[in-house]
Amino acid sequence: MKILVSGATGYIGSHTVAELINAGFKVVAVDNLTNSSLESLKRVEKLFKCKIPFYRLDIRNKSALKKVFDKHSIEAVIHFAGLKSVNESILKPVEYYNNNLGGTFSLIEVMKEFNCKIFLFSSSASVYGNPQSIPIKENVPLSGSNPYSRSKIMIEQYLQDVFNTSDNYCLGILRYFNPIGAHKSGLIGEDPNDIPNNLIPFVSQVAIGKIKKLYIFGGDYETPDGTGIRDYIHVVDLAIGHIKALQVIMKKPQVLIANLGTGKGHSVLDVVKAFEKTSGRKIPFTIVDRRQGDIAISYADCNHANKVLNWKAKYKLDEMCEDAWRWQTLNPKGYN
Ligand SMILES: NC(=O)c1ccc[n+]([C@@H]2O[C@H](COP(=O)([O-])OP(=O)(O)OC[C@H]3O[C@@H](n4cnc5c(N)ncnc54)[C@H](O)[C@@H]3O)[C@@H](O)[C@H]2O)c1
Repeated sequence: MKILVSGATGYIGSHTVAELINAGFKVVAVDNLTNSSLESLKRVEKLFKCKIPFYRLDIRNKSALKKVFDKHSIEAVIHFAGLKSVNESILKPVEYYNNNLGGTFSLIEVMKEFNCKIFLFSSSASVYGNPQSIPIKENVPLSGSNPYSRSKIMIEQYLQDVFNTSDNYCLGILRYFNPIGAHKSGLIGEDPNDIPNNLIPFVSQVAIGKIKKLYIFGGDYETPDGTGIRDYIHVVDLAIGHIKALQVIMKKPQVLIANLGTGKGHSVLDVVKAFEKTSGRKIPFTIVDRRQGDIAISYADCNHANKVLNWKAKYKLDEMCEDAWRWQTLNPKGYN
């Protein structure tokens, strides 16, 4: 079965391409390389001794996308391509809405033209806003607190409208919690362009001496150590969750919505301690004011995903840090 993966050279995209190949799927990769390097795909090719067709294109460019659909018989699409920084989305809402919504519209319109009916979408736990109860179940009301999360909510609604009204469509919406870690091989991992936005790349760059110290946003939350609690999930567990979801949705027309997390919360200080243990390096940090829009605690109720996908995240925090550290030490300059 041939799967088009948008955003295939990005962090989660490249790990999912690896798991798709591992599971015997054929992959056609597209990305505009605004936030990634083609080297990630070359590393996956090296890992599996295979060739993966790649097209450098912006998915908002429908005529370029059509050429890819014309050339390959695409049976399903996994859609990762998008801009993902909450802070940047507040500064650049026009770009975020245009890219995230425009890219999805374009993909769906081309899929429709080519009668391709299986679609998996990367959503985010940020669609839950500040949830009223923890762990977070899929059926609680959604509320975005920034342009990024609102773009995800709008896309989810658009997709459900499109897929509910058409025959034989199979839609999966996967809401990721906090993906971290890297492939066991140390060949692929997270390689942010500038100063990292996410905790683990920041911590590992402090550990390796690239950045002087870690700034922790908020030490006065109502949590046992005062720092925010999140549900960290190994990126390989997340990637395998996509394979399971694809296998479930392609069996029959449906709209599936599932949280992908571990169901366990760890504080920022827990992560710092685990990373210090793994790396044997001290992580200097300063606690500063809370960041606007951040919430105290977020972790998933994974019962629905465990049941419908027959899937469970297996890696623990220590292993996630070990794999992130291996990636960092083997690739101190990322893919370059
Ligand atoms: N990493 C996270 O913490 C996280 C959490 C929840 C949801 N997500 C979602 O998962 C998806 C993948 O995230 P990631 O961490 O791999 O990000 P990433 O930035 O590493 O990957 C996204 C890829 O999409 C590409 N891209 C962006 N706009 C494009 C366009 N218009 N046309 C073609 N390519 C385009 C980028 O070049 C990049 O390679 C995103 O949609 C993101 O919102 C990520």
